[in-house]
Amino acid sequence: MGMKVLDKEVGNEALELTPEVIRETSAIYERVRHIIPAAEWAVHAPYISAIRKLKQERKAILLAHNYQTPEIFHGVADLTGDSLALAREASKVNADYIVLCGVHFMAETAKLLNPSKTVLIPDPEAGCSLASSINAEDIRALRRKYPGVPVVCYVNTSAEVKAESDICCTSANAVQVVESLDSDRVIFLPDEYLGRYVAGRTSKEVILWKGHCEVHEKFTGDELLAYRKQYEGLVILAHPECPPDVLAEADFVGSTAAMIQEVGKRVPRRVLMVTECSMTDNVAVDFPQIEFVRPCNLCPHMKKITLPAILESLKMRKHVVEVDPMIADRARQSVDRMLGLKP
Ligand code: 13P
Ligand code: SF4
Repeated sequence: MGMKVLDKEVGNEALELTPEVIRETSAIYERVRHIIPAAEWAVHAPYISAIRKLKQERKAILLAHNYQTPEIFHGVADLTGDSLALAREASKVNADYIVLCGVHFMAETAKLLNPSKTVLIPDPEAGCSLASSINAEDIRALRRKYPGVPVVCYVNTSAEVKAESDICCTSANAVQVVESLDSDRVIFLPDEYLGRYVAGRTSKEVILWKGHCEVHEKFTGDELLAYRKQYEGLVILAHPECPPDVLAEADFVGSTAAMIQEVGKRVPRRVLMVTECSMTDNVAVDFPQIEFVRPCNLCPHMKKITLPAILESLKMRKHVVEVDPMIADRARQSVDRMLGLKP
């Protein structure tokens, strides 16, 4: 047995699909074989095996967002979830290293919540169009324009933006966070569409920012109508970062974790998850009986995290995520206030 994968990103070391690797990864492959073709698995398996060994040696825990590819999500992750779950889990990790398989704001949040651990991100360029749509000065300007109005920031923001905000929220608790504030007006940023969704569920006036997710803004209501016509009995689940016409067409709206839960609850014959494409692959692993309709929009930032990048991250102990001590305490307060709300 001797298929070799040339690992360019870890010093040209060749990773081999040996009988030992096949044996070590066979149980995982059994779960994902209807999602990952055998030829692709032959490339992934040596990395999966090497990462699983090295994370033990390093005493590292791998946290993976629901948008990570199936070979990461099912192959190497210790804990998976939406942004809220990853933040909660990160605060409890008792290992030397947290490797955050997701985008930069998620790694920063993990560092804020567990500052004594070394947090690594396999690619520091894994950003987010929402996080880059606003900075600390923008919030200071909003506060000057709307004095006394509390600021709610979506977790998809940098630590400096969290530090300027009163409280953080995720897609799982945005309505609850806005409702918790003792004010008739609230500034909600940076996601305009999530903000509009929240505004429709609260009596408070919601002042919005014009940030958008570059993945979810691509979906349209017309596209969903066309799928409904084509696939009889289709159940449509959508993420609240989608535009309003998409949400109006959906049967259910919720965070990535809530969408997964909904699939498990309904077990529909046919389902369309209006969100990043890899999540559908991850869910399909556990529901082979469901037909998943897939308009495939990928997040280019999430896709920067790959098995070779994770292996290199563990080997070289990089890229270490730090938060400027001048802002860390205030940013942490904003996340802690959110986590302090009763679920
Ligand atoms: P969730 O918190 O729902 O997982 O969403 C995070 C995200 O980046 C969605 O695009
Ligand atoms: Fe950001 Fe959108 Fe990617 Fe989520 S899917 S990380 S919101 S760009």
